[in-house]
This record gives sequence, structure tokens and C-alpha cells, in this order.
Amino acid sequence: MRIAVAGATGTLGRLVVEAVRTAGHDAVPLSRGSGIDLMTGSGLADALSGASAVIDASSTNSTSAKESISFFGTVTRHLLAAERAAAVPHHVAISIIGAAEADTGYYAGKAVQEEILRAQGSGWSVLRAAQFHEFAAQLLCHGRIGPLQVAPAMRSQPIAAAEVAGELVEIAGGEPRGFAPTSRVRARSAWSTWSGAISRRPDSADRSSRCRSRAPGTEHAGRHAASRARRTPRPAGFHRLARHADRMSR
Ligand SMILES: NC(=O)c1ccc[n+]([C@@H]2O[C@H](COP(=O)([O-])OP(=O)(O)OC[C@H]3O[C@@H](n4cnc5c(N)ncnc54)[C@H](OP(=O)(O)O)[C@@H]3O)[C@@H](O)[C@H]2O)c1
Repeated sequence: MRIAVAGATGTLGRLVVEAVRTAGHDAVPLSRGSGIDLMTGSGLADALSGASAVIDASSTNSTSAKESISFFGTVTRHLLAAERAAAVPHHVAISIIGAAEADTGYYAGKAVQEEILRAQGSGWSVLRAAQFHEFAAQLLCHGRIGPLQVAPAMRSQPIAAAEVAGELVEIAGGEPRGFAPTSRVRARSAWSTWSGAISRRPDSADRSSRCRSRAPGTEHAGRHAASRARRTPRPAGFHRLARHADRMSR
């Protein structure tokens, strides 16, 4: 299967490209670096030729509602038009839990993205995820005002971007399903994150990573964490919790 990935250089997009290849599909990374601008639509027609699905993992850094609406509205319309022209049957988008009810800041753009897809009738899937573990590092990168570092307060039950990437690829490999349930992702993430956390050692090299790389300390929070954790001595109650997490993820 040929799967195109919009936003292929981003925090999530890079992991989606990896997950597409791991699943044995052909990945077509769409990025400005390879001449595809989602805001103008240039280069899209050729890139989508022969694709069975498009996973949209693009994003803007802007927290302005106006700019976010413009970005997600324009990108979604350009992708859908190019998909129609290239007869791509499935558009898969990532949204954020609660974004549809929000009309402020960045979330307003996500709400518009969902609205546009809902209006399509068929041929689309949307996975709503919580903030990624990597989001903390993204906030730090984008939250600088001159010499000041802004650290907004918020409550979240974050998820590893690698888990979301895997789920998006699984969705892209099936029939369009509209809004996909999020519960399975959360249960699976809780398990892999927790098992990764107990086997993790701080790695000072990661602290100096650049903005788009994985957040400090979350480097093992994805799928590979479980195999690493299997080789690690378990604290009391581990196996009971593991069985519970396993039941939840089915
Ligand atoms: N981060 C989170 O915690 C979180 C949680 C839930 C859902 N999401 C959703 O996940 C998606 C990806 O988020 P992210 O945090 O991974 O984003 P990100 O790291 O900021 O990456 C954004 C991507 O979009 C690309 N892009 C931006 N403008 C473009 C343009 N005009 N043409 C082509 N490509 C363009 C960037 O490419 P360049 O290399 O060219 O800049 C980059 O690959 C978003 O829809 C977001 O709402 C994120």
C-alpha cells in the first residue's frame, strides 16, 4: 500500500513515516523540503498519484485562531482536492480531544479541520488524541518571548506520539471510519509509557536535542519500550498491572 504523509518532517509525521514503513507499506513523505507546499497545493498532484491513503500530520506553530483556521482550512482543502483528482480513497487526519468544542487559539483551526472532513460524507477518518509527551518540549521551544521562557499551566493525560503514529497507520490501512475511537490508543499508551518509564535512565544527550526531536526523557515511551522493559526487574504489582493494561488494550 502506498501511503502519503503530510507534515512528514514533524514530531508526529516522522514517526508516521517510520510506522508506515514498519507496517510494510510504501511511504510518500510530503514536505516543503521535497517541493510540496500544503498552503499553496504545489507539487501535491504528482505526489499523490497511486496513493491509497493520505495521513495528514501537518501543523502550524501559530497560537492565533485566525492563523490556525487559515492553516488547517487551507491545507485540508488542498489535500482533499488533490486526493479527489488522484482518486485517493482515504484521508486520515489527527485531531485533539476536545478541539471540536474550542473556538480559541490553535484549537479553532483543528475544529475547522474536523468540520471540513465531517462535511465530506465519506472517505475520511479522524483520530482524536491527547497532547503528546513531546508537547512539553514543543511548548518550551515555541514559548520564548525575548529572554523570557513562558511555561503555560495546563492539565493533560498525554500520550506518546509513536503510539498515535502506529494507530494512524492502522486506520489508514482499513476502511474510512469517520471519527475513530480513542480509548484503545489511551490504554495502550498508558501501558507502554509506564513500562518504558520504569526501565528508563536519564540520558543527558537528549536534553540538548533540537525542538522537533523527541522530548527529553520520553525517548523510550513508544512501542520499543515494552521489549526493553521485559529485561528489567519489576516492582511489586507489575504483572497485575500489566495484565490489566493488556485487557484494556483489547
Ligand atoms: N503535538 C501534540 O501534542 C499534538 C497532540 C494531538 C494532536 N496533534 C496534531 O498532530 C499534528 C502534528 O503535530 P506536530 O506537533 O507533530 O507538528 P510539528 O512537529 O509542528 O510538525 C508540523 C509539520 O507540518 C509541516 N508543515 C507546516 N507548514 C507546511 C506547509 N506549508 N507545507 C508543507 N508542510 C508544512 C512541517 O514541515 P516543515 O518541515 O516544512 O516545517 C512539519 O513537518 C497536528 O495536526 C496537531 O494538531 C498534536
